[in-house]
Amino acid sequence: MIVEDRAINASLSLKNPKPLTKENASALQIWGKVPLRGHVNISGAKNSALAIMAGTLLCGEDCRIRNLPNLVDIARMSQVLSALGVKLNRQNNTLDIDSSHIGHSKAPYELVSQLRASFFVIGPLLARLGSARVPLPGGCAIGARPVALHVRGLQAMGADVRIEHGIVHADVKGREGRLKGANIYLDYPSVGATETLMMAATLAQGETIIDNAAQEPEVVDLANFCRAMGAKIRGAGTNTITIVGVPRLHSTDYAIIPDRIEAGTFLIAGAITQSEISLSPVLPDHLTPVIAKLGEVGVRVVVEAPNRLRVIPGALKATDIKTLPYPGFPTDMQAQFMALLTLSEGNSVITETVFENRLRHVAELSRMGADIRVKGQNAIVRGVPFLSGAPVMATDLRASAALVLAGLAAEGMTIVKGLHHLDRGYEDLETKLQNLGAKLERVQLQEDSEEDDPKQTANPVLS
Ligand code: UD1
Repeated sequence: MIVEDRAINASLSLKNPKPLTKENASALQIWGKVPLRGHVNISGAKNSALAIMAGTLLCGEDCRIRNLPNLVDIARMSQVLSALGVKLNRQNNTLDIDSSHIGHSKAPYELVSQLRASFFVIGPLLARLGSARVPLPGGCAIGARPVALHVRGLQAMGADVRIEHGIVHADVKGREGRLKGANIYLDYPSVGATETLMMAATLAQGETIIDNAAQEPEVVDLANFCRAMGAKIRGAGTNTITIVGVPRLHSTDYAIIPDRIEAGTFLIAGAITQSEISLSPVLPDHLTPVIAKLGEVGVRVVVEAPNRLRVIPGALKATDIKTLPYPGFPTDMQAQFMALLTLSEGNSVITETVFENRLRHVAELSRMGADIRVKGQNAIVRGVPFLSGAPVMATDLRASAALVLAGLAAEGMTIVKGLHHLDRGYEDLETKLQNLGAKLERVQLQEDSEEDDPKQTANPVLS
């Protein structure tokens, strides 16, 4: 093993073998097969936080958001709000947002293009100011990701929407400048469209009904935040959401729910390293499909306390997975589960139905010895007895987590590059893993400038 590690070290020419800070580091070096033990704290949900930050634009008063994760995506959303004239003050995991004075309604392209979720400001801006200019976010590594459903819904609420030079121009017609309640059927239960339209409807005149709405816990969290500001919303968490518009919303103090995807990733960290670990805070109901699939694989997850889980590993066996909108199996857990299935005895079939290009981690897992064939939207995984450490490149946020998980279980050393993906959505992943006993550190690689794939960095807009 030591010989193998040295070989990898030599081939990658480590410039500096000492641990580096997040800012200047470029890869994670992981020594696999180290058992984990102990407890991990789960951060606030990234996807809730992003939507709720956009939602503060609805309110003409101060809002306090607690349990905000410290992530690159959150920093980007803060920049988008600042660019609109919003005042932000962050102390650790608490963010005070004063959107009483929004300077203008135009979100800058260079920011929106880096964070797809920032497009969601279009709903609140339009509802509050009667006008919004938001660039189309464009496609990304996992798929085309259109916003037609958001646009159509806003049009149904009376907005005049035009796309000119890549910018969505939305204006409310009529003298009163208020959106009108409407019956909206979504062709697909899009999380972003549901959130955009729900936010817009909170200040619209009359009642809006969103049918075939997304039911994700982050949609419910956003609805609860809006309700805490005085919005009238019912049905969030079901496929029909009804919103009765009010003239204005008021200040609130709100704590974000725990991140179910981060929690799921740590459950798999326990399973893949055959280690018993516990995690909190979590809302176990949000993890039902992940816990059920872990059970089929042979991994028990015990609810120790209302918000605390313990993962109890077992011999891993194959199972099939199909990603679906909530309460189906989350697409944001597909890559991590694939890492686990590479080491599970038998053949598994993973079907990705939510995004059209979300199997790019297959090639990287294969570099570590995984046996996976891709046919269309299906990945057929034949379990292998072991993975071996290798240099690999993260292709998107959750793929980066999958490679870290594979590295924890592999023999020898793995080097995960493309860490800008990881830092978008995992708060201090390596520190949390180190506290569980994992052996990993950030390092800088000499080869960065020569081998960094411009495609990986040019458009980092992902989930
Ligand atoms: C959100 C999550 C992301 C997660 C995804 C699906 C955030 C910030 N991100 O992304 O982590 O992976 O939900 O659970 O919350 N679609 C259309 N037309 C539209 C909108 C969407 O066809 O107008 C399609 C998309 O191309 C995709 C599918 O719907 O195939 C799901 O997308 P959507 O639910 O909108 O995902 P996001 O809200 O972007």
